Amino acid sequence: MTTNSEIRKGLYGVVADYTAVSKVMPETNSLTYAGYPVQELAKHCSFEEVAYLLWNGELPDSGQLEEFAASERELRGLSEAEINLIESMPKDAHPMDTLRTFTSFVGQFDEHFTRDADHIREIGLRLLAKFPTAVALDIRRRKGKGYVEPAKDKGFAENFLWMVFGDEDDSPALQKEAIQAFDQSLILYAEHSFNASTFSSRVITSTTSDVYSAVTGGIGALKGPLHGGANEAVMHNMLEIGDPAQAEEWCKNRLDNKQVVMGFGHRVYKTGDSRVPTMEAAFKKLAANTPGAGKWVEMYDIMAKTMEENTSIKIKPNLDFPAGPAYYLLGLEIEFFTPIFVMARITGWTAHILEQYENNSLIRPLSAYNGPEERSVPAEN
Ligand code: COA
Repeated sequence: MTTNSEIRKGLYGVVADYTAVSKVMPETNSLTYAGYPVQELAKHCSFEEVAYLLWNGELPDSGQLEEFAASERELRGLSEAEINLIESMPKDAHPMDTLRTFTSFVGQFDEHFTRDADHIREIGLRLLAKFPTAVALDIRRRKGKGYVEPAKDKGFAENFLWMVFGDEDDSPALQKEAIQAFDQSLILYAEHSFNASTFSSRVITSTTSDVYSAVTGGIGALKGPLHGGANEAVMHNMLEIGDPAQAEEWCKNRLDNKQVVMGFGHRVYKTGDSRVPTMEAAFKKLAANTPGAGKWVEMYDIMAKTMEENTSIKIKPNLDFPAGPAYYLLGLEIEFFTPIFVMARITGWTAHILEQYENNSLIRPLSAYNGPEERSVPAEN
């Protein structure tokens, strides 16, 4: 008989497989993608270079980057059917539901799925290129605005912000520092080993199902507030607090009532999330350039201090804590923070789908039954 101690609820501490994509090192609060520290990638590389790294295991040289970026730019546009699909979705649907349906829809036009690595990279590239256009259209149509053709002369991050804000005079989101902060957030969100959405994608891949199904499953998992949805929840909490002077009491109240404070804690990192310092610096830089944004920085610092000082495990922020207010300062609607996470994480998911196919074994754990003893159906039935 299985005992409680043998069951790892939430697969806590279980090592499920090898991966060469990224390494999470909680003992040193560090994270590497294919061996490169994520903070160095965020400092020296563009998101496109990081996408290439995750799918090929090496950073591109200038020729490889040029070719990769050019192919991504070519695939950015949406077909009429894809535009009509997004336009036809309920305006009050959660944008993650819209993006999940969009992904599934795109997949139906790809009839010749093979498990060939180049073909999987092609699909990843198609989704990587189309997601920002789909998300920008979804943002715009909810405001009664129309489709904007993507720009082939702009990088990934700039093109997205331009599709969303390009028709607004002097949008702060189109300043160089804002584009850089956004690009860095995409790099930090790109990959994180066997997190819930990536593992969901790997489980689906392990059945030898197709890439679109694996990505759709990943989107479903990422939507949850305990995973990607936390960046949205962080900003809702900050707006609820409203005034930095209330932040300490608000956090203490939540803790006293055994409620989680979103953007804090992590399943793997217990003494700090490796991605936070880079994103925190980007958020604070953005705030310094945004009139009236000082109060969010003040609130951020008070919340971080209160959480650390009032929990036995000295709980620290995770990436969603600085990313939420950073996206807010860029002028992005809160319910779109998680779809933006998808725009980045499609790179990590694709890398794991490639790896899972390469050395596949059906993922199928066991369960310990604790229902009624075996019994007979009554004779009158
Ligand atoms: N706020 C308040 N208390 C928290 C907390 C938070 N954000 N995160 C963890 N805790 C508490 C737990 O309730 C637990 O308390 P207990 O010992 O009294 O039961 C203790 O801290 C230890 O929790 P831990 O084992 O480290 O958490 P976990 O691994 O089970 O859960 C998360 C990890 C991410 C699910 C959890 O930290 C959480 O819900 N965070 C908020 C959501 C979030 O930001 N998600 C994004 C993750 S990148």
